[in-house]
Amino acid sequence: MVTQIHPLIKPANDLTREPLLRVEDLKAYFFMDEGIVRAVDGVSFDVMPGKVVGIVGESGCGKSVTMKAILQILEAGAKIVNGKVTLRSRIHHGDPNSAEELIELTHLHPNSRQMRRIRGAEIALIPQEPMAAFSPVHTVGNQIMETILLHQDVSKKEARQIAIDVFRAVGISMPEQRIDSYSWQLSGGLRQRAIIAMALSCNPRLLIADEPTTAIDVTTQAQILKLLRKLQEERQTSIIFITHDLGVIAQMADEVVVMYLGMVMEKGSAMKIFKDAQHPYTQALLRSIPSVQSHPRVKLPTIAGSIAHPFNRPKGCPFHPRCTHFMRGVCDASQPHLVEVDEDHFVSCFLYSEADGTKKMTKTGAALAKEESL
Ligand SMILES: Nc1ncnc2c1ncn2[C@@H]1O[C@H](COP(=O)(O)OP(=O)(O)O)[C@@H](O)[C@H]1O
Ligand code: SF4
Ligand SMILES: [Mg+2]
Repeated sequence: MVTQIHPLIKPANDLTREPLLRVEDLKAYFFMDEGIVRAVDGVSFDVMPGKVVGIVGESGCGKSVTMKAILQILEAGAKIVNGKVTLRSRIHHGDPNSAEELIELTHLHPNSRQMRRIRGAEIALIPQEPMAAFSPVHTVGNQIMETILLHQDVSKKEARQIAIDVFRAVGISMPEQRIDSYSWQLSGGLRQRAIIAMALSCNPRLLIADEPTTAIDVTTQAQILKLLRKLQEERQTSIIFITHDLGVIAQMADEVVVMYLGMVMEKGSAMKIFKDAQHPYTQALLRSIPSVQSHPRVKLPTIAGSIAHPFNRPKGCPFHPRCTHFMRGVCDASQPHLVEVDEDHFVSCFLYSEADGTKKMTKTGAALAKEESL
């Protein structure tokens, strides 16, 4: 088996300032009889060690496909057509002191041994569909042990102990008994904890959580978010947290990536996104989340219009049919580029960029967008 290594292999101590994961201009399309769905169309972001990156956007904007493309688990019919995904990988898996290398995941075959090792051992997934995480015919414990045995050099007995320990770590009481349950015997909250336990069982450095609280009730949701944050802080695991809910992002993320129709509209630190959002779409999303102050009977504004059909993406800025700042002949003529409006704060909008991709020299656009949204 030939190990695919990034052309620029650097010694371990040179990698410490590199992101754990770098996604560059990633494009993943579905090729269908009816046409091409550009599900992910030029997405870039970095995940730094120990940080939580929140990916947010309405349903259908390409969040799950981005995650599947990173992990190379795209459905048949979908293909990565462009871009690079680079992981800072431990050469001797499991050994935290092991040297690291940069591996381009997009160069690996989805079924290669190395890609299979990376899935689970280095990048673990909490899938969107909770029922898809466990098979109903084996106990939860046996399935977690199977994952541990696949990735770690331990005996069956040790694997069972690791499974029990990780059950305890996610707050499941009576872990010795509960690991012998079937997933359908567990309540929604316990099942979600068991899924998190499974994902953490091999001590991954990156966890991708795809809408991990969508299928559970509000109280359990709050507990699960608290648990994820606690585990992340204790273990310094990086997380890509995917959700359609900016309110959840506010509780979880250090960095935020706002997506619309397969593209990044805005990205930056959570502070910048929540205190100083510049993109009209982010501003509209923010207006539509309940704040602590809002009265329960006050109807929150929703974003006017609906998301375009994926086969029929509008020309120019994908958000233009719904944008209150729409400029005819500009926004529908070409696609804005992502420009840096402030340190590590990027926006893709003609209020801030020229058609040639350069940054607007004045901040008039930002000021205007803000004033009008007040
Ligand atoms: N298996 C599939 N076949 C065809 N199109 C798909 C498939 N899965 C997703 N898509 C399309 O890709 C786009 C992005 O989907 P997805 O990433 O699942 O969105 P979300 O942001 O809700 O996770 C959508 O337009 C969706 O219709
Ligand atoms: S480019 Fe134009 S349509 Fe798109 S978000 Fe900016 S102002 Fe609105
Ligand atoms: Mg999804």
